[in-house]
Amino acid sequence: MCGIVGYIGGKEALPVLLNGLKRLEYRGYDSAGIALFGPEGLTVHKSKGRIRELEEKISAEKLPGMAGIGHTRWATHGEPSDINSHPQTDAEGRVAVVHNGIIENYGRLKEWLISKGLGFKSETDTEVVANLINFYYKDDILSAVREAVKRLEGSYALGIIAAGESDRIIAVRRESPLVVGLGKGENLIASDVPALLEYTREVYYLEDGEIAALYRDRAEVYNGEGQVIEKEVSLIRWDAAAAEKGGFEHFMLKEIHEQPRALTDTLRARIRTNTGAAASIDLEEIGFNKSWAAENAGRVVITACGTAWHAGVIGKYAFERYAGIPVDVDTASEFRYRNPVFDSKDICIVISQSGETADTLAAMRLAKQRGAGIIAITNVAGSTLAREAGLVMYTWAGPEIAVASTKAFTTQLACLYLIALKFGVLRGRIQDTDMVKYIEALEAIPAHAETILSGKANIQRFASLQFNKNKVFFMGRLFDYAACLESALKLKEISYTHSEAFAAGEIKHGPIALVDTSTLIVALCTQSSLFDKMESSITQVKARGAAVAVITWEDCKHFDGIADEVFRIPKTEDGFSPILSVIPAQLFAYYCSVLRGLDPDKPRNLAKSVTVE
Ligand code: G6P
Repeated sequence: MCGIVGYIGGKEALPVLLNGLKRLEYRGYDSAGIALFGPEGLTVHKSKGRIRELEEKISAEKLPGMAGIGHTRWATHGEPSDINSHPQTDAEGRVAVVHNGIIENYGRLKEWLISKGLGFKSETDTEVVANLINFYYKDDILSAVREAVKRLEGSYALGIIAAGESDRIIAVRRESPLVVGLGKGENLIASDVPALLEYTREVYYLEDGEIAALYRDRAEVYNGEGQVIEKEVSLIRWDAAAAEKGGFEHFMLKEIHEQPRALTDTLRARIRTNTGAAASIDLEEIGFNKSWAAENAGRVVITACGTAWHAGVIGKYAFERYAGIPVDVDTASEFRYRNPVFDSKDICIVISQSGETADTLAAMRLAKQRGAGIIAITNVAGSTLAREAGLVMYTWAGPEIAVASTKAFTTQLACLYLIALKFGVLRGRIQDTDMVKYIEALEAIPAHAETILSGKANIQRFASLQFNKNKVFFMGRLFDYAACLESALKLKEISYTHSEAFAAGEIKHGPIALVDTSTLIVALCTQSSLFDKMESSITQVKARGAAVAVITWEDCKHFDGIADEVFRIPKTEDGFSPILSVIPAQLFAYYCSVLRGLDPDKPRNLAKSVTVE
């Protein structure tokens, strides 16, 4: 949520800040702003709307400063407006602050600051932080920040500059990511690595409570007591080009097309097909080459949010089918407030593309505290989840920029299938011959994904006929139902169509009341043993006037003459179908969004990384 950048060095800071903000716009985009040191001292420039609106506003002005901070916002306190945009300054204009997160005690702090005679212009919690820092600010901004953060409750990543100290930028975090980029004669801060890739690959990941002071020629990191600490330099391995659109109209379309490559990378790293030996899955990275999982695991608990939660639902079905182990799956925002019961034999799998989702991190910490073994599945090395979880299995999807998750989802599924199959082998549920069959099926998935993508014109044609529909319901059974959850989410996220997912057998228990001639039903039909059951459900909704499109296997004739449209996907193992069946749904959502004149990369009210509750 919200993007933060900061720069100090020998270049003009303005282009570096704007460039960095554009790379982070997916984190929030309802307003943007920058604060810069220039010949006239500290100046602040803000605008409601996208970064290009900020650019238009300041293009006429000359801002040659070589240090500054910037912010792109996803509103939490106060509507998107010029005044509520960041940077926020204190009442005297001495301190400018950009903030990501939520200050939970801001109301009490605000009252206290008002009682000291300070006035407020905005509705934000961030203005409270600026005033609080200024309250402690005499002549050393670093110690003022150290004092102020002691009084803050909640989550924050903060970038701070002070009018009298143009030689440094201060950064501090708690429960919200912040990275320090270490350049040559320049240093940067950012809430996420894409903003840094053009300038450096060497970074410090700040930990909770650490405070960094960035100068042109060095970056110092202190603990909460003010002692300097030695940080390990981490190297970012992402390819800078991977964070560009590469000829595609939108990041989402590019990322949909990257799935064959991403799936190959995620699968190949773990599949061993040495000649002479039976094919096997190597999960040494999460300790699964030993037999502890087989002997000890009593239950698997999966928790995550949004798309990652949908991956978890599919994971549940996969664990039950291939490993025969009980599985609970729950959204992290529910899980963290339940009273989840664990014993030390339980394994908790926590899934998060970003590794920074606030609810998911809280759920992981709760499970850990209650004694579960934690396995994280994440796309971002160095993320909070990756650092705290202990055992990490990375999705090798590369940076995902579009708000609607696509390649992260299918690679999460790839990881879950690998773990479920490995589990099945270790628990004696899968014989060698079956394993060979499953591994061959997994290895063929990237090529099958490519085949589906090569038929995208057919989905585009279908979208051009359906994009104005007001109700689109997805229905399916077993793995198809779980894939429907993700398909419906994609459509509603980026095209604002009312779309829902239903277990096909449940349609008759209520949802059918919503079905009429204006409804499009997309039926996912890949569970071969349940084709007749799906046929009944389709007949029921057709009898109420709905148009029905079916997604099924390439060799399946069952639904010809029953559905209005049949989309065919290459055949794989029934249980692996969601990795493939979701791709037509991703494309359908994308084309509906574009046909409705929307920006699929930046849907309204959403953010890529939700680091607040
Ligand atoms: C937000 C995003 C979703 C994402 C969810 C969980 O809501 O818009 O696309 O699935 O957060 O994010 P995570 O990074 O934890 O997978």
